[in-house]
Amino acid sequence: MERTFIMVKPNGVARGLVGEVIARFERRGFRLVALKSLRIDRELAERHYAEHVGKPFFEPLVTFITSGPVVAMVWEGREAIRVARAMMGVTDSADAAPGTIRGDFSLSKEENVVHGSDGPESAAREIGLFFAASELL
Ligand code: RTP
Ligand code: MG
Repeated sequence: MERTFIMVKPNGVARGLVGEVIARFERRGFRLVALKSLRIDRELAERHYAEHVGKPFFEPLVTFITSGPVVAMVWEGREAIRVARAMMGVTDSADAAPGTIRGDFSLSKEENVVHGSDGPESAAREIGLFFAASELL
């Protein structure tokens, strides 16, 4: 079993897509390990997106991700990281396949509704950034 960090981004929360995202992970067979609603501050944004610091899209990304509440989750299941990325679709929603979250609910490259960990190291790092060990059930 593997765990992955999934987050509904501010536009997903504002558009009322939290339930839709949760439902998809539940129906696929994942187990919900942790969930919280929070507003990300600049410091957390820089730690979460550390690999993107200095890139041209980093400042708009921080502005976006700190613009309103997000819903942070940990989901557990077989091949969770890879399967969740497939369920989300590729980064640019215009290229995301229909049936994926981004492919069904977004046209944007930047405001693409959900985040998901891209590997085991980032999953462990991101889970630790957003949750205390005691919050993981
Ligand atoms: P995420 O980390 O949010 O799950 O998205 P991802 O792995 O599919 O994409 P990543 O390369 O990690 O980029 C992180 C987020 O930055 C914004 N972005 N904008 N304008 C651009 O070229 C650009 N590239 C990336 C997106 O919000 C992307 O999800
Ligand atoms: Mg990423």
